[in-house]
Amino acid sequence: MEVPTRPSIDISGRWTTAWASRKSLKTFTIAALFAVAFSLFLLSGKQRTIGQANGCDFPAIFNFGDSNSDKGGKSAAFHRIPLPNGNSFFQKPAGRCCNGKVIIDFIAEKLGLPYLSAYLDSIGTNFQHGANFATGGSIIQPLDARMFKLGYSPITLDIQVSQFEQFKDRVNELYKEGVNSDIKRKLPRPEDFSQALYIFEVGQNDLDGAFKSMTEKQVVESIPGIISQFAQAVKRLHQQGAGTFWIHNTGPIGCLPFQVLEYPPQTDNVDQNGCIRSRNEVAQEFNRQLKERVIQLRMQFPDAAMTYVDIYSAKYSLISDAKKHGFANALRYCCGHYRDNLCWRKKVVNGTEILGTSCRNTSAYISWDGIHYSHAANLWVANKVLDGLLSDPPTPITEACLMPLHL
Ligand SMILES: *[C@@H]1O[C@H](CO)[C@@H](O)[C@H](O)[C@H]1NC(C)=O
Ligand SMILES: *[C@@H]1O[C@H](CO)[C@@H](O)[C@H](O)[C@H]1NC(C)=O
Repeated sequence: MEVPTRPSIDISGRWTTAWASRKSLKTFTIAALFAVAFSLFLLSGKQRTIGQANGCDFPAIFNFGDSNSDKGGKSAAFHRIPLPNGNSFFQKPAGRCCNGKVIIDFIAEKLGLPYLSAYLDSIGTNFQHGANFATGGSIIQPLDARMFKLGYSPITLDIQVSQFEQFKDRVNELYKEGVNSDIKRKLPRPEDFSQALYIFEVGQNDLDGAFKSMTEKQVVESIPGIISQFAQAVKRLHQQGAGTFWIHNTGPIGCLPFQVLEYPPQTDNVDQNGCIRSRNEVAQEFNRQLKERVIQLRMQFPDAAMTYVDIYSAKYSLISDAKKHGFANALRYCCGHYRDNLCWRKKVVNGTEILGTSCRNTSAYISWDGIHYSHAANLWVANKVLDGLLSDPPTPITEACLMPLHL
């Protein structure tokens, strides 16, 4: 796996060079003006990280969530997610439910950090710049019998946070014990935990599972409980010293091809894109309550920077204007033939074994396998959200550690 070099702008280094090489009064005046302007720039936003002017320079990312950002957790814990997953980019199964990269990969690229290793993966991992606790099928709520029977993962959000707590404790212990350089190359430094970026994208499976066992009205009634559980996870991480949170909301679940296929045909509940309107309304209600809670959490933890990221709007605008953005197929999917013959799964039909294979042109599809977005769609969504235009506050991810002045 390639490890991109981290961009690091050493302001003090440049300053010294400029100072040493030019001694005229004119240069001094310009430098002094620059220093004043620079201090004013610093004052314009409260900075958590001192001395890093060019963005936040996050040393690490810790990610929590479900298959939308899993890149090896489920694969390591349960079974490998086989080809054609990974085919378009890695040319082998890469732990992701996708032909290529997921949004968290594009985030790592944007921040100049290597792709995250899955915490549960025991082979070839490197956690120097963070760890990914997300696993496919995870939910926010503790796993009850109903969700267990529906096949959701036991590695729920609270378990992921417990795994993080253990990870952090053990890193700190090893450093105290005087760890060798080989281990240091594979683990974050104790001080990185407070400077890291903490990312969440979770909740889609809570809604999906609820739709399978409740009326939509009951699903809406269950949302406050789910949001409270989410807030608990944020609180626990904050107690551990986490200071910067980047929180993705949930996507338009009513536009997932499998939701559309499963829903009884009922034209008055279908929007102009062919998505199930009422399901999207439930997702929007979830997002409304999530955003409200993020605002409350900000007031509760004024030392933390929390960005709420509107993934829903990005995905919905992609689906609404699919052709314009180069995607011929908005609600069809690339891998697997139909609901009863899923991506990569085998099925015997009329005595012949058929395999749920990939379509030819993966970049023509928004949906990879009926549930997960394709590499091309994930790239489009990442480009749409990482500059901050769909965030509250409207902060680019590279500046997510800065808190707006009004707080
Ligand atoms: C399996 O056989 C049935 C009956 O002959 C036929 O209608 C169906 O199309 C066949 N399915 C496939 C995938 O060949
Ligand atoms: C694949 O799909 C993309 C997007 O719809 C399109 O631009 C491209 O021409 C297609 N490539 C082939 C080989 O059909």
